[in-house]
Amino acid sequence: MNTQITWYGHSALGIETSGYHLLVDPYIHDNPAANIALEKLRADYILVSHGHGDHIGDTLAIAKRTGALVITVNEIAVWLRNKGIKTHGQHLGGGFKHPFGYLKLTLALHGSGLPDGSYGGNPAGFLLTTLEGKKIYMAGDTGLFGDMRLIGEEGVDLALLPIGDNYTMGPDDALRAVRLLQPRHVIPIHYNTWGLIAQDPQAWAQRVQAETQAQAHVLQPGESFQLS
Ligand code: NI
Ligand code: MN
Repeated sequence: MNTQITWYGHSALGIETSGYHLLVDPYIHDNPAANIALEKLRADYILVSHGHGDHIGDTLAIAKRTGALVITVNEIAVWLRNKGIKTHGQHLGGGFKHPFGYLKLTLALHGSGLPDGSYGGNPAGFLLTTLEGKKIYMAGDTGLFGDMRLIGEEGVDLALLPIGDNYTMGPDDALRAVRLLQPRHVIPIHYNTWGLIAQDPQAWAQRVQAETQAQAHVLQPGESFQLS
């Protein structure tokens, strides 16, 4: 069975794997790039990489409507739990066997303040191993770091990497990240949401194809990629 990844613009993702619906960083309502109604999103689980508004996004509203379990770093888990949301707190380097697969939190070089100014702990990325053994690395918001090589050693099937620059890696460093991670497939995210992070994803994808072994896939908001 395939795992299907849908990009909703910016860093918002839907993952359908073994019958489970996951949302990652569901920034939808205020996301200029998103073209799906918030009410249409299905979620059994919501993964939140860090506390910034363009990542925690509509987590509260979706979790309240769907009853989804929110998986995130412990500080954000406590913040959400105090608002009546079901959460599972993890932390960097820690993995847990959830019903949908094994999820490990990875390092991210970034900040993580919550929208109300609360402390959100450290930002994270995610390494998901599906029940079928496929590995999906979602970098979150991060700058380039050399330990991406360690993540690559696990054998990454698909990497989702920010290329927007200014707040995260730009195209050049994202290309270096592909060399460290050596994924089979890569999808660029966190670009063109606003002018400040405008990039040409096709030009980046061509460089990936020419200079690395990875296959690059540029998605339109709402478009899906089948990982097999
Ligand atoms: Ni951020
Ligand atoms: Mn961001």
